[in-house]
Amino acid sequence: MEKDLILYASQNEYIDKVRRFAYELELKRNHKPLYFTHTFGCQQNESDTEKINGMLSDMGFEKTDVREDADVIIYNTCAVREHAEQRVFGTIGSLVGLKRERPSVVVGFCGCMMQRNEVSEELRKKYKHVNLVFGTHAIGRFPENLYKALTSGERVFDVIEQKGKIVEDIPVKRGHDFKAWVSVMYGCNNFCSYCIVPYVRGRERSRDPQRIIDEVTALLKDGYKDITLLGQNVNSFCNDSDSDWNFAKLLRRINEIEGDFRIRFMTSHPKDATKELIDTIAECDKVCNHLHLPFQSGSDRVLDLMNRRYTREKYKSLVDYAKSKIPDLVLTSDVIVGFPTETEEDFLETMSLVDEIGFQGLYTFIYSVRKGTPAAEMEQVDEKVKHDRFDRLCALQTEKATQFNSKFIGKTVKVLVEGFTGEDKANQTGRTEGNIIVNFPACGAEPGTYKNVLIDKALNWAIFGQAID
Ligand code: SAH
Ligand code: SF4
Ligand code: F3S
Repeated sequence: MEKDLILYASQNEYIDKVRRFAYELELKRNHKPLYFTHTFGCQQNESDTEKINGMLSDMGFEKTDVREDADVIIYNTCAVREHAEQRVFGTIGSLVGLKRERPSVVVGFCGCMMQRNEVSEELRKKYKHVNLVFGTHAIGRFPENLYKALTSGERVFDVIEQKGKIVEDIPVKRGHDFKAWVSVMYGCNNFCSYCIVPYVRGRERSRDPQRIIDEVTALLKDGYKDITLLGQNVNSFCNDSDSDWNFAKLLRRINEIEGDFRIRFMTSHPKDATKELIDTIAECDKVCNHLHLPFQSGSDRVLDLMNRRYTREKYKSLVDYAKSKIPDLVLTSDVIVGFPTETEEDFLETMSLVDEIGFQGLYTFIYSVRKGTPAAEMEQVDEKVKHDRFDRLCALQTEKATQFNSKFIGKTVKVLVEGFTGEDKANQTGRTEGNIIVNFPACGAEPGTYKNVLIDKALNWAIFGQAID
């Protein structure tokens, strides 16, 4: 038996009860009761919402995009920056009237932000119209919590911190038909000094490799073509178990599965990214030539304060190795500007690293104080200075990305077609193996199929061309 495992079936009693409840509503109304869900935050949260949607569908509810029609409303929240939290508080406020008009509606908030004590206490005291609150550790008790919220007339809070468990066999309602997220591990042990994630997601827990392989195999059978393996730091996969598995081995094993598909993954922490990982990307044809490797800062002094445990030199040599092994490498990254005590000189080191490396894409964040983390206690940088640095970095990156994307002009790229860019259906869009957006005049290619596109134009956020056979 795998350790710390909970199966969805352990909730059977409540699953049945919710099903009966939903069925009675359906008989009364001649249609299934409806649910509305919305996700803030990262792919981990997207993936959790797909599980919540899967459970709701399994228990007899139907998805709606109209919040006002729903019987169950659930927002999956993110705590990574203050701005993300402010948006959630705005949403909470916007639900007061709806709950007043239809008191039987379940108004639920879940995910990372709810796992913060301060937030769940504020909801408990000030926002009485919210009647279901659960944290990241409670997803396995969703049927039970939902049943109580639907029937007890009491507010349900399930935000206890507990040693992390892994819940398996939850039905998943995927958001796409040919792109899928597959979590390989949960939680984070790194405690970067600015980051709230380890506090709200708990310690690292890796899934059983065979379960991951089975899930990917089943997805491929269902026609999925683009699989993203998810974890806060996939490179520590199975470090929490005594098995001899590691992430590179998992990639090789998935690469062996038959079929024409793409495997990508995020996120890699530079301190744990190995040459073995890079060799694996280079050698496995289905593993995409795309590496998302957040560097956060170009200054060693700041990296040390961030508790990142690598230097600028180590980061650069890793990238050099990757570039030498993977000729068409598409490198993307995350960076924070205005980390506490960051000087102009530190910032210029970030600018020069961005200039030297030439990332295809960069997620640039302004440092946001997260109470309870070590960086919150450090000397803060002036807001205006932060914004000025942010603007300068974005301008440089726009230039670098355009430069990178221009390399494709005159070349043919293989695109996994996703859909149309606008209502008029004049243009289609898709992605390269390196995850670069490609737009081209509609040519009748079906979403989920591959098409070759000859590139004739490049901007910083996408490349453009004509479909060819
Ligand atoms: N596990 C991933 C990152 C998850 S959070 C990794 O280590 O790469 C996504 C990004 O949000 C981080 O890479 C970081 O750039 C940014 N971030 C995290 N905490 C932040 C904060 N307090 N302020 C601003 N940006 C932050
Ligand atoms: Fe946050 Fe660092 Fe963990 Fe990423 S590795 S989730 S930045 S603590
Ligand atoms: Fe946000 Fe939680 Fe992801 S804090 S970034 S949704 S792990």
